[in-house]
Amino acid sequence: MHVTVLLTLVVGALSLSPPLSRHQHVPQKPFELVLHREPETHLCNVVHAPRQTKPHRRLTTSQTYAQESKTVTRHDGKGVVEIVKVYAAEEELLWERLGELCDSGHVDASAFTSTVDYQEPPVAWLPEPDAEDQLRLLASTPGIDSKLCTVEKKKSPVPLSVRHITGSGHSANRVDLTFFSDGYLASEEDKFIQDVTRLVEEISGNQTFHTVAPLLNFWAAFSPSNEAKRRWCRRQAEGISTPFGLYRDGTELRALYYAKPEVARAACDSLGDRCDYPILIGNDPLYGGLGGEFVTITPSEVNGPLVLRHELGHSVIDVGEEYDGGFAYFGPNAGHDTNKPMPWAHWLTHDSNLSNDKLPRVERAVMPIQAYPWTLLNTTAPWKITFNSSGTYSRHVVRFSLSGLPEEDDIDVLFDGHDLEWTPKPGLGVDRWHYDIYRDDALSEGEHEIEFALRAGKREGIAQLCSVELLEFGSDEEFNATPGFYGVFPTFSEKNETSYRPTNEDCLMRLTTTPNFCSVCVEGLWLSLLSRVDPIDSIQTGCLQTDRGSWLRTLKVDLLPLGQFRAGPPSTNEAYNITWTNDGQILDGFANITSIALDDRKALGKYSVNVTFVTEEVRADPEGLLSSERKFEVFDRCH
Ligand SMILES: *[C@@H]1O[C@H](CO)[C@@H](O)[C@H](O)[C@H]1NC(C)=O
Ligand SMILES: *[C@@H]1O[C@H](CO)[C@@H](O)[C@H](O)[C@H]1NC(C)=O
Ligand SMILES: *[C@@H]1O[C@H](CO)[C@@H](O)[C@H](O)[C@H]1NC(C)=O
Ligand SMILES: *[C@@H]1O[C@H](CO)[C@@H](O)[C@H](O)[C@H]1NC(C)=O
Ligand SMILES: *[C@@H]1O[C@H](CO)[C@@H](O)[C@H](O)[C@H]1NC(C)=O
Ligand SMILES: *[C@@H]1O[C@H](CO)[C@@H](O)[C@H](O)[C@H]1NC(C)=O
Ligand SMILES: *[C@@H]1O[C@H](CO)[C@@H](O)[C@H](O)[C@H]1NC(C)=O
Ligand SMILES: *[C@@H]1O[C@H](CO)[C@@H](O)[C@H](O)[C@H]1NC(C)=O
Repeated sequence: MHVTVLLTLVVGALSLSPPLSRHQHVPQKPFELVLHREPETHLCNVVHAPRQTKPHRRLTTSQTYAQESKTVTRHDGKGVVEIVKVYAAEEELLWERLGELCDSGHVDASAFTSTVDYQEPPVAWLPEPDAEDQLRLLASTPGIDSKLCTVEKKKSPVPLSVRHITGSGHSANRVDLTFFSDGYLASEEDKFIQDVTRLVEEISGNQTFHTVAPLLNFWAAFSPSNEAKRRWCRRQAEGISTPFGLYRDGTELRALYYAKPEVARAACDSLGDRCDYPILIGNDPLYGGLGGEFVTITPSEVNGPLVLRHELGHSVIDVGEEYDGGFAYFGPNAGHDTNKPMPWAHWLTHDSNLSNDKLPRVERAVMPIQAYPWTLLNTTAPWKITFNSSGTYSRHVVRFSLSGLPEEDDIDVLFDGHDLEWTPKPGLGVDRWHYDIYRDDALSEGEHEIEFALRAGKREGIAQLCSVELLEFGSDEEFNATPGFYGVFPTFSEKNETSYRPTNEDCLMRLTTTPNFCSVCVEGLWLSLLSRVDPIDSIQTGCLQTDRGSWLRTLKVDLLPLGQFRAGPPSTNEAYNITWTNDGQILDGFANITSIALDDRKALGKYSVNVTFVTEEVRADPEGLLSSERKFEVFDRCH
């Protein structure tokens, strides 16, 4: 080994010459295509024609394109749409893929008449955000219905004042989450920044996204709303004059829709690399939100962070629901077949009860009733629901959510006529909240009734019953409810179809009032983020002269600030494993060192640095996303 190890590098004692040359790794920027596809007809709307984007680490020599797709509620709540994102090194591959994804049987011949502004062959979208034809869509590819394409009208992006809230690095190698204001007056810019700062702190300061925060940048992009129309629309009305047109549907403290997706898209696009996950904040103190192309939330004190975490779980990890009564159950935390190992088999608690074929048992539970009434309550007649119990379970929980009920005397919640002694979350006011009333006794076989009886007449018009559900559980032996226990738990969809989840209530994708994901989702989060972020930020080489006059060749690798390089102490067990090689030989003395110095006279040759981020939060990394390697060659001597 022709290497000299210099034990201490005291910079003051060395002269730096020539200056450090910076060999910034220039990762290939792949092309990205974004489609909205009708789930049944496969008619497509090209939201983004191929354009260059951040590197995608799932694109490898054997993997010519990477695809992400999910079905989400439309921006106006009218049905669902599948968002498909495809990545490839070459634009042509995306156009080919487009033909496969979109049903050409539905192409309307008139799509290709002169009324549509299209070019053939398709050309890439101009990358300049302000280009006149930014939002013009191309209709020349088979499978694209021009009517759907041209629904998008060109809009000028709203004025934006952008601030960095927190983050650790250049957007080229980070995932960027960007908050956009809606319904904030020009004079409320500071309130917006405070709202965003608080939300970011709540979701990444000490919990939820805390361990992955060094992979993220958070931005706040302020756009003022019109003074006259400041009142935030409760329903979609004429002349919504906020930048993105956020609105509620009637009185529901529920979904927060947006009327101007094309404006939001253009605003996000104008930020380039700094807008991977756009979030629209509607300036309203009460519950509301939506997941999808844009996450929408409010700065509600209690519900803002809760909705934000949950919706970002859907978009960043790409997981479905874990709560009952939803329609989409997918991702690393969802299983559908008990005859096969679950996707989280490597997280199962060791003593989890294995059945004969070594597969874990399903914890015993049933959901005899579940409803989303979203109904206003009145004092004239209570809202009631009846259901039948099989009488074979040991315990149960009554789970419901209410809004507009700040005091405990406002309403009686009765179970078979017995008062459940509901009390509101302290300090909640009229906002929405979720309640669980656990009852450690068995229900008798036969009919039971849950009743919501409004007592306070003054709450009529705002008192609302949002959701109600009853779950029955087996005994301690049949249903392990211990936090931290990973097994197989049944989840019941809106159609009462069963899928499976890893923990009872450890995940905010199930219990939205908890602040953290379960380990299975956290692992999914790391893998998802590391598919776009490389553990190696850059490598550099340089020269140093010692005080004795000899020259050293220096090699340095800059890593994401994780493990031993975190700003604060790591809250989990994690570290980088770093290995340097020269002409294929491991440089033994340099294990786990980021900056090395070699005798210049013997430093010519081929080098590589291999970095693996080892964390207890990831147990399985089949694609090697936690590892990265850089190769380079030293061609010349320092002196
Ligand atoms: C994290 O900080 C919030 C306040 O921002 C606090 O309510 C919560 O208890 C903290 N959680 C942990 C795990 O320290
Ligand atoms: C769901 O299905 C289970 C098992 O078939 C049944 O016992 C339960 O009552 C059903 N619940 C609802 C809400 O339909
Ligand atoms: C009062 O609420 C009950 C239960 O939701 C409903 O059936 C009834 O129509 C309501 N009455 C009025 C006057 O709104
Ligand atoms: C409960 O079961 C009884 C007997 O099968 C049936 O008559 C009744 O309609 C059921 N109640 C509900 C709410 O499903
Ligand atoms: C496993 O299941 C059996 C019967 O289903 C039960 O008797 C036993 O207590 C369970 N063991 C654990 C560790 O949950
Ligand atoms: C660290 O890297 C070395 C060399 O590549 C390898 O032998 C070792 O198994 C790695 N250790 C861990 C914990 O990954
Ligand atoms: C380098 O760090 C990894 C991860 O902490 C550790 O497993 C390995 O033993 C270290 N290597 C040496 C030679 O210290
Ligand atoms: C470095 O990483 C590459 C690719 O992951 C792997 O093939 C090679 O064996 C690694 N070398 C060392 C010394 O760990």
